[in-house]
Amino acid sequence: MSSTFDPTTMESVLDGAGTLPVPTIRPRRLRRTAAMRRLTAENRLSASDLVQPIFVVPGEGVERDIASMPGVKQFSVDRAVEEARACAASGIPAVILFGIPPEKDDAASWLGRADGPVQRAIRAIKSALPELLVIADLCGCEYTSHGHCGLLNPDGDIDNDRSVALLARGAVSYAQCGVDIVAPSDMMDGRVAAIRAALDRAEHQDIAIMSYAVKYASAFYGPFREAAGSTPAFGDRRTHQMDPPNAREAVKEALLDVAEGADIILVKPALSYLDVVASVRRAVNVPVAVYNVSGEYSMIKAAAARGWIDEERAVDELLVSCKRAGASIIITYFARSIATRLAKAQR
Ligand code: PBG
Repeated sequence: MSSTFDPTTMESVLDGAGTLPVPTIRPRRLRRTAAMRRLTAENRLSASDLVQPIFVVPGEGVERDIASMPGVKQFSVDRAVEEARACAASGIPAVILFGIPPEKDDAASWLGRADGPVQRAIRAIKSALPELLVIADLCGCEYTSHGHCGLLNPDGDIDNDRSVALLARGAVSYAQCGVDIVAPSDMMDGRVAAIRAALDRAEHQDIAIMSYAVKYASAFYGPFREAAGSTPAFGDRRTHQMDPPNAREAVKEALLDVAEGADIILVKPALSYLDVVASVRRAVNVPVAVYNVSGEYSMIKAAAARGWIDEERAVDELLVSCKRAGASIIITYFARSIATRLAKAQR
């Protein structure tokens, strides 16, 4: 038997059956070189797709590490402006703000206060960087002493409709400070319509609503709850956030929120829900955003720190998978670092 392998006459293998067909269609042609792959890429991550979350705390000159999210910090308003400046310089179009108030109580009193951390940060960032879009996450959980997303009834259940009224007041308060987009993340029923009506009544008809329409009750929010101090004191969020086995229900939630006036629909978390992103994308004609959440961030960081994965390649792969699924906006704790890297690669 000859030692050189001849693919067209594998006599010994084919046992006299003749020659093998030679492919005329060869998809590998388009993968031959880096330039060819670049030319034929169906999706591409760009800085314009990205939104960086910023956690705002009381005080001045505060820059505090979050142990479970290496590289992410809590900032006082003055430092948050510098962080926002770095984001703008990296080329990303927007930041999303989360606030940790000086005090929490049952009524979430700080949510609507003009001197609240988010309100002050909106004013400071918009006056320093008018071009940068400022999005404000809108939820009760960072403001309530019990850590739930809304106000509770005497029996300890969340009162949907009173919670919606609280959010509508919060939205108007953010709008008065110059926010560009409010992002309700609480999953109460009917809140998009109520927020839209309240904003319009207060003559803030140009403020957009990015609804966390499809937010699952997920284990991947773990590190965020340390960052925002918003772990529920009892119970969990399963009575309002979606149940992970459900996908058709996601389309129902998305369509409802579009009908109520949502300008952008958000799916969260990202990685375990890309099928949901794809079906929501097909169902609605507004931009679809995805939130690459804290647990998804921390898993990458932890594995990279041990040398188990290549962080840059893993992040690029994860985020382009969000675009491939149909998201055109990606909220991620990697936003600033990726945007900075993309800008360097173009030079
Ligand atoms: C609620 C809110 C949460 C996140 C964003 N908005 C936490 C929750 O629902 O428990 C999670 C973000 C993340 O994990 O990165 N205000």
